[in-house]
Amino acid sequence: MLNEKVHALMNEQIAKELYSAYIYLDFANYFEEKGLDGFANWYMIQAQEERDHALLFYQYLHNNNARVDLLPIDKPDKALTSDIAVLRAGLEHEELVTGLINDIYHAAADVRDYRSMQFLDWFIAEQGEEEKNASDLITKYELYAGDSKGLYMLNSELAARVYTAPSLTLS
Ligand code: FEO
Repeated sequence: MLNEKVHALMNEQIAKELYSAYIYLDFANYFEEKGLDGFANWYMIQAQEERDHALLFYQYLHNNNARVDLLPIDKPDKALTSDIAVLRAGLEHEELVTGLINDIYHAAADVRDYRSMQFLDWFIAEQGEEEKNASDLITKYELYAGDSKGLYMLNSELAARVYTAPSLTLS
């Protein structure tokens, strides 16, 4: 049986991951309106990945006979004042999510819940990747997007991103 605190944190994480999907949809919306379809594509795929993360927690709870209680999802609240502000808000958000995942891991470790720790290992690695992707995007923007040709090239690169299902699957 899942520890009460681990259960509550994982249940909350479903809404947090869906909130992540919602803010990335907001970012995609921002770039779509600006005509930067590659950036919009990149964040739309990011939103899909966040939905996948939410569903993994959902499935893990069900697989462990732990009740899922779907909580409200906050309205996207990032100030989208410029392209670089959006990119930076993405990195800041991923750092926050890393903290949330670490908190769940900590709670699982406290009660020697090795099964949950093993499940969470995937998210620990994923957060490393997510932070790196967000940080690389800022670096590329700062290096190359200073003129319209550079911005066009970067937008084209981001347009090529394709969705792939998570490497972790639960059934
Ligand atoms: Fe689900 Fe981007 O962390």
